[in-house]
Amino acid sequence: MSLAELRTRVAGAFTKAFGGRPQACVQAPGRVNLIGEHTDYNEGFVLPCAIDRATVVAVRARDDRQVHVLALDEGPDRDSFALDVPITPVPARPWTGYVRGMLREALAGQLDLPGLDLVIAGDVPQGSGLSSSASLTVAVGTACQAVGALRGVDPTGLARMAQRAENHFVGCQCGIMDQLVSSRGEAGCALWIDCRSLATRAVPIPPDLCVLIAHSRVRRGLVDSHYNERRAACEAAARHFGVAALRDVSAGQLAGSGLDPLTLRRARHVLTENERTLRAAEALARGELRNLATLMAESHVSMREDFEITVPAVDQLVAIVDGVLAGEGGCRMTGGGFGGCVVAVLPAAAMDEVEHAVQRHYRSPDGLPAAVFRCRASAGAAPLP
Ligand code: GLA
Repeated sequence: MSLAELRTRVAGAFTKAFGGRPQACVQAPGRVNLIGEHTDYNEGFVLPCAIDRATVVAVRARDDRQVHVLALDEGPDRDSFALDVPITPVPARPWTGYVRGMLREALAGQLDLPGLDLVIAGDVPQGSGLSSSASLTVAVGTACQAVGALRGVDPTGLARMAQRAENHFVGCQCGIMDQLVSSRGEAGCALWIDCRSLATRAVPIPPDLCVLIAHSRVRRGLVDSHYNERRAACEAAARHFGVAALRDVSAGQLAGSGLDPLTLRRARHVLTENERTLRAAEALARGELRNLATLMAESHVSMREDFEITVPAVDQLVAIVDGVLAGEGGCRMTGGGFGGCVVAVLPAAAMDEVEHAVQRHYRSPDGLPAAVFRCRASAGAAPLP
């Protein structure tokens, strides 16, 4: 669905639900990470791009400190709460946590916030590792700004607020990557992020290259506990070296460090991935596709062997894509791991053949074909015209 269609959908539903017209409609995109996996919470480097799938919100301020939310993709489902009593989770309806969490963070930061009527819809596939949740929290924040609230909060501040909403309210210990690229992404570019300073740099994707995503249709349970376990291993490694984060350790320090073998492999993934991400950003900027492809392949091996977050179905998907590209394009698992998507950066001319090979040769353990998305690197969150 195009942004214009999503806009028409939320604006129409707004009038039906609340009467009159919304003051504004805004969008915030999902994302795919080209390289730099599990490096964000280690204060390292990532290279994601925002994609042309987004959450769209229609908004109007109210003068009574009440918030009414209509989520069109959740049934539809409605949620109402007041800003002047403590905002608490509704565990039976998880989607409400992203809206409530974001507004509670705004209040916790003593930011100005009126009552709101909100209508939400989107086309970021949920549960696929394309950050539908980050796009929702960032879209809610952007909607607040579109009615004059959250004054003085820049896009990076908005991303941090969205991350805190996930960390504190939803209970997901994610890093800053998803929210920051949703808020700061630039059309036609990947976004290099230093996750310590939160400095960003747009890296143009050469016009003859495309981004393709294939979803393995594998979703493992316990994803959060695996994620938190990997995070804990990285923190333990940083403590071992007496530093704030693995960012401060170099790959050369690992040998003879006395780390236990498992923690050493976890740390090695992060340290080598940071180096690969720096080199990949340069390779992409220079249009050196073969270099980029090599770095993406090494990243996948590191996730499979050292960080152990891939599953056989995802490995198979990468092998199918690599089989077609033969080095003239890169492919790796993307996102938190244990299923989800692979991302490929490839010449436009190779798209059909890759998609065809995936449709023909890939089946998930449940016999499902992959879902393939051809993506355009897109701009970050903004009001819609
Ligand atoms: C998830 C998290 C991100 C990041 C990735 C792994 O997407 O939300 O913060 O840690 O996993 O790179």
